[in-house]
Order: sequence, then structure tokens, then C-alpha cells
Amino acid sequence: KPSAFFGPKKVRLEIDGQLVEAEVGTTVLDAAREAGIHIPSLCYLREINEIGACRVCLVEVEGQRALQASCVYPVAEGLKVRTHSPRVRKARRRVVELILSDHQRECTTCIRNLNCELQNIAEDLGIRRIEFQGESRRQPIKDNNPSIRHDLNKCVHCRRCESICAKVQENHVIAAQERGFDTIIAPAFNADMGDVACIMCGQCVLACPVGALTEKESIDDVWKALADPTTHVVVQAAPSIQVT
Ligand code: FES
Repeated sequence: KPSAFFGPKKVRLEIDGQLVEAEVGTTVLDAAREAGIHIPSLCYLREINEIGACRVCLVEVEGQRALQASCVYPVAEGLKVRTHSPRVRKARRRVVELILSDHQRECTTCIRNLNCELQNIAEDLGIRRIEFQGESRRQPIKDNNPSIRHDLNKCVHCRRCESICAKVQENHVIAAQERGFDTIIAPAFNADMGDVACIMCGQCVLACPVGALTEKESIDDVWKALADPTTHVVVQAAPSIQVT
């Protein structure tokens, strides 16, 4: 336990041959970033979403047969970690290819083009084509919310939106529904974001690493949606929309 007098307890570990000091209770990803060593991550949001879901941050830990998700692997004294070995890069690439195989890849027309975490990771890994072909999920775009557009076809199941909505906003509007291949991160019963108690704070949009949750392009869209009699909005507070 950290002592107020001596400060937090530290351990020393080796990451890519570099000796690194890290606080007990932190993760290999934290320690690497602190030391300026880049490990890509997708689902990780510090203290908000630490669920080790996407496996993009895989690393090799000496003594462990399987590769480990660095965002949930605690630091320990004497740990030896490799973050960019050929084995790690190959596995990481496969993980990203699998995520992309079920992602609607209309990047050039996506509002997040050139500002997309998944696109950046794929670019860094030099991914040019996806070998995996097969069934993919297709869902209608949910567009009933006055300020947020929800496109499940681009969702990567990182659950950052779910965590931020629940833990930061305490609103619990979005959560995982269904199971396995049919899993979606959406309001209960796959309801439209405009038909639930969304307060339009925009936190889920900020947390989304891809173009699954986006802000509507212009205030005109917002007014159009508000004027639509079929739009049902439960407004408690709408900091993103100034109505005067
Ligand atoms: Fe570590 Fe997703 S960032 S598993």
C-alpha cells in the first residue's frame, strides 16, 4: 500500500531492454507510456474502461506462454516485456485485421476519416488488405437523436461509450446487448438513441475511437430532428445544444 511518507511503492521492470520504474498497481501499458514506449490501444480509457477487450495492446511477457494485454497486466519487480517483437507485431496485426473484417470500411466518406484511432493503428501496422471475408453485421443507422448519430456498423465493441455513460455520466443509456457475433453496444432492446433518456452530453461521441457515435454535422440537423414530430427526446440537460 502506498505510504504517505515514503510515497508510492515502485518496482523496476524491463521493457524492450529499457529499465523502467513504475508504481505498484499500475499496468505495463502505463509503465511503457510513462517511459515513452508506444504500445497501441483501442478499448483502453484510463480509469474509465480498463477491460482488456480489444487485444490491440498485446505484448510478450517473459515466462508467459500466451501474449498478454498490457492494459490490464500489472507491473511487477523484474518483469521483462517485449512490445514490438515479430511475434507481437504479427498477433497485433491479426487482431486488427479481425476487427476491420467486421467494420464498415467506408473510411473516405466517414466523418472520422484521418481522425480515427482504428485507422491510425491499421496504418501503423501497414495493413493494406483484409484476408478475412464472411458474414458481417449490418444494422440500420440510428438517427433519431437530435445531436448524436449512431452507426453500429462501425462499432468495434470497445465499450468506451458504455463505460463513460455509466461511470462518468451515471446515465447508463448504452450497454452491451445480445451475445457473441450478435453483440451490439446500444440502448436496451436496440432502441434508437433518440428514444431513450440520453442527455446529449456528447461524452460517448468523445470516447468513441471510430465513427460509430458521431455528432450531427450541423445545427440544421439538430433543428430538423427537433422539429420532427416522431422524434421523442427526454431532455434533462443538453449542454451541447444552446436553445435561446
Ligand atoms: Fe488493451 Fe484493448 S487496449 S485490450
